[in-house]
Amino acid sequence: MKILITGAAGFIGCNLSEYFLEKKHEIFGIDNLDDYYSVKVKKKRILNLKKYKKFKFFKFDLSNKKKLFNLKKIKFDLIIHLAAQAGVRYSFINPDKYYHSNIISFINLVEFSRKYNFNKIIYASSSSIYGDSKKFPLKENQNPQPKNIYAVSKQINEEIADMYHKLYNINFVGLRFFTIYGEWGRPDMLLFKIFKSHLNKKKLFINNFGNHSRDFTYIKDVIKIIDIISRNKIKNHQIFNICSNNPVNILNLINKFKKNFSLKTQMIKMHKADVLKTHGDNKKIKKFTKFNKFSNFNEKFFDVFNWYKQNKFNKL
Ligand SMILES: NC(=O)c1ccc[n+]([C@@H]2O[C@H](COP(=O)([O-])OP(=O)(O)OC[C@H]3O[C@@H](n4cnc5c(N)ncnc54)[C@H](O)[C@@H]3O)[C@@H](O)[C@H]2O)c1
Repeated sequence: MKILITGAAGFIGCNLSEYFLEKKHEIFGIDNLDDYYSVKVKKKRILNLKKYKKFKFFKFDLSNKKKLFNLKKIKFDLIIHLAAQAGVRYSFINPDKYYHSNIISFINLVEFSRKYNFNKIIYASSSSIYGDSKKFPLKENQNPQPKNIYAVSKQINEEIADMYHKLYNINFVGLRFFTIYGEWGRPDMLLFKIFKSHLNKKKLFINNFGNHSRDFTYIKDVIKIIDIISRNKIKNHQIFNICSNNPVNILNLINKFKKNFSLKTQMIKMHKADVLKTHGDNKKIKKFTKFNKFSNFNEKFFDVFNWYKQNKFNKL
């Protein structure tokens, strides 16, 4: 297959690209190598992908419609849209980036698809859409209650997808990711911050005194799920939680780490962008893909830590 993957230099995008390249698909990656977090990390991911002959990389910003439309002659079988400005706290510092990278870029992508007849799109949504909903586990049919601009941008993506499906018959699968972790992960997310603080002997600030829970979901499970969907299941506009259905308390996680490793921490109060708990229901995606075996967080945590140390990620 010829697959367009946006956000190919990102965490999920680089893992997915490599998986598909190993399966001999042709991957066309787009990324603007934005500096929200270490550009060195993004360049390293792209360098790793460039060892595959079937990988082509285009560096540009998706808000630039002209550059995107230049790719019209490539007959993509599938588009996987992962590029976005991520992060909930940063949306209080730089809200306009979410407009350009998450809303305008999404419109450009669906317009590209409409105009040049690409009718299968998988796109990244987010668990943030649920906000502080108290009905756990969170189900896809609950009303979104976004509490920051990032979550609003993802809700708008879902609404645009709905509209483009109804108007132009483009088929979409929206994936509400819940705290994905794993190899090539994001330096701005908790796990890699723990590893870095430990290795670099720097203080780690823990929001809300650690009184949060997150439904951590392993990257290779996510990739397998996307692979199954990509093979034959993109019809209508469907939305799925991508989660392991196993919330982990952050304070317990920190304390467990501290039992084995040194870590300086300072507790701070809750940021208003944060939600207290994420815990998703994954019955719908399990039924749809028959993927049933989500990885155990306690086992994978140390594998990922070892990978991090071996690859000296704390130096990037
Ligand atoms: N990782 C998670 O736990 C998680 C959770 C919920 C949702 N998501 C969503 O999944 C997707 C992938 O997340 P990730 O963790 O890999 O994030 P990431 O930041 O590592 O990857 C996103 C990539 O998109 C690129 N990008 C951003 N704006 C762009 C633009 N305007 N044009 C071109 N490229 C642009 C960035 O440079 C980056 O490499 C995002 O849409 C994110 O919002 C991720």
